[in-house]
Amino acid sequence: MSVVVINAVTVAPERREEFEQRFAARAGKVSGAKGFEAFELLRPKSGDRYLVYTRWRSREDFESWMQSAQFAEGHRQHSGAGPVSRDSEVWELEVLEAEYGR
Ligand code: HEM
Repeated sequence: MSVVVINAVTVAPERREEFEQRFAARAGKVSGAKGFEAFELLRPKSGDRYLVYTRWRSREDFESWMQSAQFAEGHRQHSGAGPVSRDSEVWELEVLEAEYGR
């Protein structure tokens, strides 16, 4: 059963642009990870919490990615410029049912 792991990141209004730019320049390594199914960066229409949505074939696949060089590569911009987030929370969910458009 697939799992969804969401990183909910609170970004101050004055850091939004920088946050989005970091993702625009992201490593793109995640899609090569074993068991990777999907990634979406979701921008809030109201409030200040962005959601980084990822879906994986299994929890083990997500955990392996977290411990991999690909994850480190995907977060390498963190060193140097300082954190762009105020706070972050990780949510894990199981996919019970799904349907997708073409
Ligand atoms: C304190 C924890 C975290 C923060 C503040 C954070 C923030 C960020 C930022 C700003 C980027 C853009 C690249 C960069 O600046 O280096 C990024 C990349 C990414 N983050 Fe996180 N992140 C964290 C942990 C996580 C976790 C737990 C997940 C799991 C859902 C995740 C999923 C991703 C993905 C998929 C990318 C794109 C990587 C790629 O393109 O290969 N992040 N994150």
